[in-house]
Formats: sequence, C-alpha cells, structure tokens
Amino acid sequence: MTFAGRGMGHSSAHRKPCFLAVRLCQVTSPLVSVPISKSGQREPRAPTSSDPRVYMMPTCLLPFPVIRSLKLLCASLQRQGFHTAGGHYKGRTGAEHLWLTRHLKDPFVKAAKVESYRCRSAFKLLEVNERHQILRPGLRVLDCGAAPGAWSQVAVQRVNAAGTDPGAPVGFVLGVDLLHIFPLEGATFLCPADVTDPRTFQRIRELLPGGRADVILSDMAPNATGIRGLDHDRLISLCLSLLDLAPDTLCPGGTFLCKTWAGSQSHRLQKRLTEEFQNTKTVKPEASRKESSEVYFLATQYRRGKGSVKA
Ligand SMILES: C[S@@+](CC[C@H](N)C(=O)[O-])C[C@H]1O[C@@H](n2cnc3c(N)ncnc32)[C@H](O)[C@@H]1O
Repeated sequence: MTFAGRGMGHSSAHRKPCFLAVRLCQVTSPLVSVPISKSGQREPRAPTSSDPRVYMMPTCLLPFPVIRSLKLLCASLQRQGFHTAGGHYKGRTGAEHLWLTRHLKDPFVKAAKVESYRCRSAFKLLEVNERHQILRPGLRVLDCGAAPGAWSQVAVQRVNAAGTDPGAPVGFVLGVDLLHIFPLEGATFLCPADVTDPRTFQRIRELLPGGRADVILSDMAPNATGIRGLDHDRLISLCLSLLDLAPDTLCPGGTFLCKTWAGSQSHRLQKRLTEEFQNTKTVKPEASRKESSEVYFLATQYRRGKGSVKA
C-alpha cells in the first residue's frame, strides 16, 4: 500500500487541492482502505489484491489528526513491506533515498515479491531451516516479533500448520508482535502484544497446544535508537527475557533461534544458551546483509523444559 499525491500538507493552504491517494496492492487492510471513487461515491465492493486501484479522497474532508494517523499508519505499513509502487523517491532525504535504492535492487526483496513472502527476512529462516532442519511437519512454533509475518509464512509451510499436506502431521504456528499482523491461513496471531509482558506470556501458554512450543523463533528487534551499544544491549535483554520464559514454554529437546546484533553483551546470551541447550551455533544467513551486525544464535536440544518431546 502506498500513499501518493500531494495530500500530506499540514497548513490549510495546502489542504485545499489535496487528495489522499490510497493504492492497495498486495494486502488490503480494513483499517486503511477507503474505497471512495473519484466522483466521491463510496465503492460498493471491497478492493482485492488483484485490484490495485488508486482511491482518491479529498483530504480537506478529513480532520488533521485523521490525516496524521493515516500517514503514520501508512509509514508503519510501508516499513513492514506493504508498500508497492509509485512516487518512491518523492520528498525523501538522502539517507532514505539510498536505503530505497538498495532496497529496490535487493535480490531478496525481488524474490520475496515473486514468492509472495511478506518481506525478505523469509529467506533468512528458509536458509537456516535448509541447513539445520529445525522445522518439520507437526511441530508447534512460537514466532516472536512476527510482524509482518514472513517467518510465520515459512513456519506454516514447513510445519504443515494449514494442513496443506493431508499425509503429514499438522503443526501449529503462533506469532506475537507489538504491531498488528494481517491474518495468515494456518497461523494464530497474538497482537498487539509485548512478549515480555506477563499477560502475553499467559496467553501464549493458553494458545499453544499443550501449553508448549517445540521451536521458539525470535526475529525481534527493538526500535533502533541509532546508538549501536544501546540497541545491542536492548536486543540482548529482549532475548534473555525470552529465554527466561523457556522453562515454561519450550519442550525438552526444543529449539531456540534468536536474532542479535553483535556486541559486547553477546557473550551473556551465548553463555546462557550453552548452559541450557546441548548445541549452540552462530549463523549468518546470506539474506542477512553483510554490513549489518545482525547474527542469529541457533540453540538446539533444550535441557530444561517440562513436558514431552515430539518424535
Ligand atoms: C525484524 S521485525 C520481524 C520480521 C518477521 N520475522 C518477519 O519475517 O516478518 C522485528 C519485529 O519485532 C517486534 N518486536 C520488538 N520488540 C517486541 C516485543 N517486546 N514484543 C513483541 N514484538 C516485538 C517489532 O514490532 C517488529 O515487528
């Protein structure tokens, strides 16, 4: 989805000729699709993914807070990969322009579009899984920091959570995020929810069949402040707090895959993982940008969990 046109002016002088143009492409959102035709009539039919029309709505009909909220919502959706076409470079700063150029040239971004993944990060999990076979039909997966849902898409396919393969055991995927996640067949989403909140933890246990997962995935990333050390510390704390929940949410023999940004506190997380799992590895998938400090810790054969191991 993209906002286009010149509808974002903040002064009333700017508001007069402005239109809020909403283009719905890959995903339609009941929150933001405003199906109003150019003549001002409401469209009777909800737009579909194959119907990438642009809906024009005079912004002078909307109060400022609504325009502002829509703009923020749209920016958030764009960050999540729901952006598509047109006007990409308009009004952007140099840094944003560079980011966008790299993004649009990125082979994983292109592949994600072709293969209908919600974002390029799908290929990170696909690669880790190809190398280490952490997902298989019948497993229960807890996907933390799941928005926009690409890892959940991969997990649903690999554990057969949608029952697509009638001959294989049916798994379960539970995705949790601070942000809204659009529904995905075969996945259950708990959002908006903070995994570190005890109420979320309780809901996770209620939603997981048998109260436990066989695999915990975390691609969580706190909002970056740009201060490398601080961002690193916050991400390590997030991973550690997730690990604190593992005795009650992860089965013995279970798998824990988490994203980190390399830094001075990584050893703390690594130490905990080594103590609590039989095997721990550091992995850097091809899709993880070389210049990024992002690395994943993959820990298998959990020693501390309660409950039964899936065969
Ligand atoms: C890089 S994105 C995840 C992308 C996802 N793996 C995918 O493939 O679509 C990181 C996500 O972590 C979420 N996040 C950060 N802190 C969180 C928390 N405490 N609880 C839940 N989600 C969190 C963010 O909202 C963000 O959506």
